[in-house]
Amino acid sequence: MKFFVDTAEIDAIAELNDLGMVDGVTTNPSLIKKSGRDIIEVTKEICDLVDGPVSAEVTATDAETMIAEGRKLVEIAENIAVKVPLTWDGLKACKALSDDGHMVNVTLCFSANQALLAAKAGATFISPFIGRLDDINLDGMDLIADIRDIYDNYGFETQILAASIRSVNHVLESARIGADVMTAPPAVIKSMINHPLTDKGLDAFLKDIAAADIKIL
Ligand code: E4P
Repeated sequence: MKFFVDTAEIDAIAELNDLGMVDGVTTNPSLIKKSGRDIIEVTKEICDLVDGPVSAEVTATDAETMIAEGRKLVEIAENIAVKVPLTWDGLKACKALSDDGHMVNVTLCFSANQALLAAKAGATFISPFIGRLDDINLDGMDLIADIRDIYDNYGFETQILAASIRSVNHVLESARIGADVMTAPPAVIKSMINHPLTDKGLDAFLKDIAAADIKIL
C-alpha cells in the first residue's frame, strides 16, 4: 500500500519523508488555507521534496477553467496530479487532462457509481472520503470494498486512494480491503506505531539491561 500524506505542512512532510513513509502528498483548498501559503509556492516546495505524486486541487467549477488551471498546475513539476471534484465538469476536465498525459485525482467521491464514472473518464486516482461518510453514520469501508470489486471486475487501472482517513483503524481496514493508496494526516501515520505492549515490553527490557549492566558498546 502506498502512503500519501494529507497536508501542506512542509516540516511534517519532510519528517515522514526522511523515514521513507511518503509515497506522495495530497492537498486541498482547506489544507492550503491552513498552511497560510501561496498555493503555487507551497506546492512547488512539496514537489521538490517528494518523489511521488503531489495532488493540487483546481479552484474553478467549470470544465474549461479547470482544464486551464490544471495545465498551469502541471507546469509546477512533473509529479503534479491535478485534483478535480466529482462533477460532470470535473470529469470533463479529468478526461482532457488525462488524455494530455497528466495524472488526475478525482476527489469528493462518496459512491461506487461515481468511482465508476471517474475510472471511465481516465482518472489516475479516485478519492473516496471514508471519514466524511462515517460522519453521517454511513460505512466508508463499504464504499472502498465496492470500488475494489468493481475496478477488479473490469480491470480498471484507476488507483483507489482511500481519503478522509481519521484513524489507524481506517488505515488498517483500507489495507485489508486492498486500497492501492491511503492518504492520512501526519498525526494518524505517526500514531500507527503505538502499542501499549511495545511500551511495556521495552520498559521491562530496559530494567533488565540496567539490573544486569548489559553493554554492547
Ligand atoms: C483527500 O485528498 C482530502 O484532502 C482529505 O483526505 C480530506 O479529509 P477530511 O475529510 O478529514 O477533511
